[in-house]
Amino acid sequence: MKIGIIGTGYVGLVSGVMFTTESHDVLCIDSDVAKIEKLREGQCIIYEDELDTYLKSAISDGRINFSDNYSHLKFCEAIFICVGTPSNADGSANLSFVYEAAENAARNIDENVLIVIKSTVPPGTCNELSTYLNNKGYKHKVASNPEFLREGSAVFDYNNPDRIVIGASDESSFEILERIYENKIRKNIPIVKAETTTSELIKYTSNSFLAIKLSFINEMANLCEKIGADISKLSEGVGLDKRIGSLFLKAGPGYGGSCFPKDTSALSVLARQKDCASQILDAAIESNLSRFALMSDKIIEATSEGKNISILGVAFKAGTDDVRESPSVEIIKLLIDSGYNISVYDPVALENFMQYNFRNVTCASSIIDCCRGADSVVILTEWEEFSEVDWAKIGEVMNRKVLIDFRKVTDEQLVVKAGFKYYTVGK
Ligand code: UGA
Repeated sequence: MKIGIIGTGYVGLVSGVMFTTESHDVLCIDSDVAKIEKLREGQCIIYEDELDTYLKSAISDGRINFSDNYSHLKFCEAIFICVGTPSNADGSANLSFVYEAAENAARNIDENVLIVIKSTVPPGTCNELSTYLNNKGYKHKVASNPEFLREGSAVFDYNNPDRIVIGASDESSFEILERIYENKIRKNIPIVKAETTTSELIKYTSNSFLAIKLSFINEMANLCEKIGADISKLSEGVGLDKRIGSLFLKAGPGYGGSCFPKDTSALSVLARQKDCASQILDAAIESNLSRFALMSDKIIEATSEGKNISILGVAFKAGTDDVRESPSVEIIKLLIDSGYNISVYDPVALENFMQYNFRNVTCASSIIDCCRGADSVVILTEWEEFSEVDWAKIGEVMNRKVLIDFRKVTDEQLVVKAGFKYYTVGK
């Protein structure tokens, strides 16, 4: 099938490239001409494992094209909207890019072409957009197909989805979406068919459920510290209960990224607007926000009288160069405000991090340079290379040997053997 994708961010680019592996032809539209040019040359504009290989082969097979011109969409049978839905000041989702993309597409396509919203949007958006377009004389059906890809493992997740959710208001829309996911259906991947509002809510509820799980396990980590229990063993013992599951039970510095903070807050606002506030969700959001201050206090206490802190990892998690709402960034802000000098290192995310232009922060090009003269070193992203560090060697260049490993990637015994004071969460 010929598929149009509007927006070449994480969702749009991964979906577009991966659709080509299932014999679809894809046209990706983005208003950013510089991005389009890079993509045409096969340059992957985001850091995502394996994506560049798939992009290059899609280009060489002639299955993918990039353009900033919406009129090229006229040959497509379905258009996926994959643009951003940033937060408004009150925490609700800003849908202006979605509406703009849909209207631009509608102007250029036949009325039987299905518009599919893949961006994360509040329940009711497909119906509202459909009414909006109809009022403007465009008769397109609007369907929902939320995305569950994780940054850093998006290609793997695309190939191995737990489920595919499709929301539509009529059989012909379902039929188009089922044709798009024909290969996955043949592999017996569960397909959840719902009306659009439920489909949209599935996405928000999934992300919020995981965020609640994380906030709870992080609070249990706090309790472990107070009563002499160990969060790693606790998570293992609890997670083996199949009803709970072992994933998303790893305590850390709090959740971040471009999805959980934004989606939890949009769902919270929506629930309140409908006079149906979610106390549990609100508490999870609050708990996560207060976690950054808690982590910063821990660092300050462990650093003692020292003023120089080395931070390893600024990406919001390993496997991505994304620093949006990264716990690391939030904690760095608090440390700067408390008068500390910060040196940071990250294997891939420094370029994005530098856009913040923080004062009193220097970026280092290696772990050892980052730790030189530091009074403490803090691990905030679970990059594999941080688990392979020779701490005895690092200790030689530090002012004081203090390691605060919020991601539990180091071996406590080895670190202590290298002469370090070791701190973590939940122990
Ligand atoms: C999340 C969802 O997992 C995806 O299913 C969804 O498609 C995506 O949002 C989205 O809405 O686009 P992502 O934000 O890429 O994916 O990252 P996650 O792997 O879910 O991690 C989110 C945060 O939780 C990170 O800060 C991570 O470090 C933290 N986390 C995760 C933990 O602290 N402990 C864990 O055990 C797991």
